[in-house]
Amino acid sequence: MTIPHEMTAIDPAAPGGPEVLQPVIRPVPQPSPSEVLVQVAAAGVNRPDVLQRLGLYPMPPGTPTIPGLEIAGTVVAVGSAVTRWRPGDAVCALVAGGGYAQYCTAPEGQCLPVPAGMRMTDAAGLPETWFTVWSNVMDRGHARPGETLLVHGGTSGIGITALQLAQEIGLTAIATCGSDEKCAAAVAHGAAHAINYRTQDFAAATLDFTGGRGVDLVLDMVGGDYVPKNLAALADDGRHISIAFQRGPVAEVNLGLVMRKRLVLTGSMLRPRPIGFKTAIAETLEGAIWPAFEAGRLAPVTDRVFALAAAADAHRHMEAGAHVGKIVLAIS
Ligand SMILES: NC(=O)c1ccc[n+]([C@@H]2O[C@H](COP(=O)([O-])OP(=O)(O)OC[C@H]3O[C@@H](n4cnc5c(N)ncnc54)[C@H](OP(=O)(O)O)[C@@H]3O)[C@@H](O)[C@H]2O)c1
Repeated sequence: MTIPHEMTAIDPAAPGGPEVLQPVIRPVPQPSPSEVLVQVAAAGVNRPDVLQRLGLYPMPPGTPTIPGLEIAGTVVAVGSAVTRWRPGDAVCALVAGGGYAQYCTAPEGQCLPVPAGMRMTDAAGLPETWFTVWSNVMDRGHARPGETLLVHGGTSGIGITALQLAQEIGLTAIATCGSDEKCAAAVAHGAAHAINYRTQDFAAATLDFTGGRGVDLVLDMVGGDYVPKNLAALADDGRHISIAFQRGPVAEVNLGLVMRKRLVLTGSMLRPRPIGFKTAIAETLEGAIWPAFEAGRLAPVTDRVFALAAAADAHRHMEAGAHVGKIVLAIS
């Protein structure tokens, strides 16, 4: 196939509101020897894209200014050292940026096959949350079957993935959400219990649900004043995993509690991690999780699909906060 020199992309000249996300013409990127070039069919929208648009995301050096951390599409060219993929392969990929575009390069090892029968718009929403949730809950949190997990933002892209991972590996998941409707959605997507944090004290409700024992893991995207409550809701030997701090990066930590319960506080950011780290997660996900999508035990939860030219509306929709699951851009 002929690859054009130029493409349509979203590449704001300056930080700002959703209105900065206008289609522009950019050169088609060239794959390095270890990369593939993907004709993008769809790109996932993630909360970090909103932070990037606002100029609030610490961009790792060398990442494209075009937003978009995950894509699905068709490989149209491969670098000289690529061994697995060939033009025509349907892949979804974790990328460090560049997804809101007709073409995007991806490191070979960060591509996964689109599960059989899955729409590109669904596959595009898998990589960012699955790489993030797996590496945090499994690798940093050392979750084991039979344990309990408290997930904040239970209906977010990340939250739904955490609930699905819990189901797949045998964790009991408790979700917190900002409305009764979202609580019902979290239960429908696998939470054993959901707590409306606007009407209930989530730490007390978590302790109640666990018979006073507390949970083994907290996946926290809230930070700030949630942290002391999370620590109170953790069981002995519990693990507190930070992936965002929507209520602030500074928190009060009662060291007495940490010592008495032998708690572990950890966290991570996926985007700046090296390709080798992400490749290892891709390999693990392909073996441990992709078969569940193929077998129909897991299904992507796509809230709404927008055209690339309507990326501004997609961000408005995310910032309105009523979505359940993933927001996706359909590109070609
Ligand atoms: N560390 C990493 O590598 C990494 C990677 C990807 C994403 N993230 C982070 O993970 C989070 C989720 O990402 P996403 O793309 O899934 O976003 P999303 O779908 O927009 O979800 C954000 C969630 O945060 C909840 N929330 C917002 N403000 C809150 C508050 N003040 N108190 C409690 N809950 C609040 C919302 O739940 P309610 O409406 O129920 O309040 C919503 O479900 C984001 O903060 C993102 O930056 C981190």
